[in-house]
Amino acid sequence: MTQSATDILFQPYKRGALELANRIVMAPMTRTMAPDGIVGPDQAAYYARRAEGGVGLILSEGTVIDRPASRNEPGIPFFHGEAALAGWKGVIDAVHAAGGRMGPQIWHTGATRGMSGWEPEVDVESPSGLNAPGEPRGKAMSEEDIADTVAAFARAAADAKRLGFDTVEIHGAHGYLIDQFFWEGTNRREDRYGGATIGERSRMAAEVVAAVRAAIGPDFPLIIRLSQWKQQDYTARLATTPDEMAAWLQPLVEAGADVLHCSQRRFWEPEFPEIDGAEGLNFAGWAKKLTGATTISVGSVGLSGEFMAAFGGETSKATGLEQLVARMERDEFDLIAVGRALISNPDWAARVRAGDAEGLKGFDPASLAELV
Ligand SMILES: Cc1cc2nc3c(=O)[nH]c(=O)nc-3n(C[C@H](O)[C@H](O)[C@H](O)COP(=O)(O)O)c2cc1C
Repeated sequence: MTQSATDILFQPYKRGALELANRIVMAPMTRTMAPDGIVGPDQAAYYARRAEGGVGLILSEGTVIDRPASRNEPGIPFFHGEAALAGWKGVIDAVHAAGGRMGPQIWHTGATRGMSGWEPEVDVESPSGLNAPGEPRGKAMSEEDIADTVAAFARAAADAKRLGFDTVEIHGAHGYLIDQFFWEGTNRREDRYGGATIGERSRMAAEVVAAVRAAIGPDFPLIIRLSQWKQQDYTARLATTPDEMAAWLQPLVEAGADVLHCSQRRFWEPEFPEIDGAEGLNFAGWAKKLTGATTISVGSVGLSGEFMAAFGGETSKATGLEQLVARMERDEFDLIAVGRALISNPDWAARVRAGDAEGLKGFDPASLAELV
């Protein structure tokens, strides 16, 4: 595409305290390269390279809160403890020096398994001791466990602000802890954290958002990432109608989330095609329409294949951005997150801006072996 054709991606974005030079967000991507849970100069250089390459907002790889068994792989970084936080301070300082903006994605992996088969020393925890419907794993959380978890999210967010980050993202997607509360198949609780409706099962997430908001104050941008699909079941859906979607998302916005990061594996897939057709609004489009919040879309931008297949070894070719531009021009969502294309091309944003489509590489999962 020519330079001017992608202008929409390079419009600044300002709403409240969120002020970005353009609409391109680096999607959070776990790299499992933090020895003892601590990031260092390698991660600082990796993220700073994307800032230099023109990304408007960088979201870090998932980084876990202070709970036993909050991570499912040993190379996942902590977002707690003096040494780990000092490592993250080095990252945000490097990103700022390169002219970028960044927030950590704070995370608890719930009852999920990592890819390496590693097991934490203590039992994993989740709403009902289930990793997936009919798949018991670890223990069901007590109310005290939940209160401690909510408080740990809030401490992590306060630390993000104190270290100088520009925002913080709560990971509420993809079948991890918070999503295991949303999902009927893994939340069988009979207390106030469970219930037959998605509105009831949103309570735990809303408590996390409210506690985080209280910890960071009114003027620090707060993002929550959400998905209908789960790693345990790509066809799972939390909301099958716009009313259900409003019941899911509205409490999160009311609790203090400014931005909904709506994760899809392919951004062009319509959320409710039975209502607005095959070219209809995607998840971020509906979330924006229903709540009025800022939304981020994501999923296979600039690539021929989607990311879960990439974990199975599939390579992707670089593709055009016409569909993305068309959707952004109709103001369907505000920001677009780019994942794998930014691993292959740290300067993806700058190349797109310059109209250098030929210079863009596709994605080869082999590139995940190194942090470059
Ligand atoms: C290597 C890798 C690690 C990922 N880790 C995370 C993560 O820690 N948190 C998260 O919310 N999503 C994670 N994702 C999903 C991405 O944020 C993104 O939603 C997905 O890759 C789709 O975007 P893409 O098609 O542009 O790559 C990961 C994806 C990849 C490829």
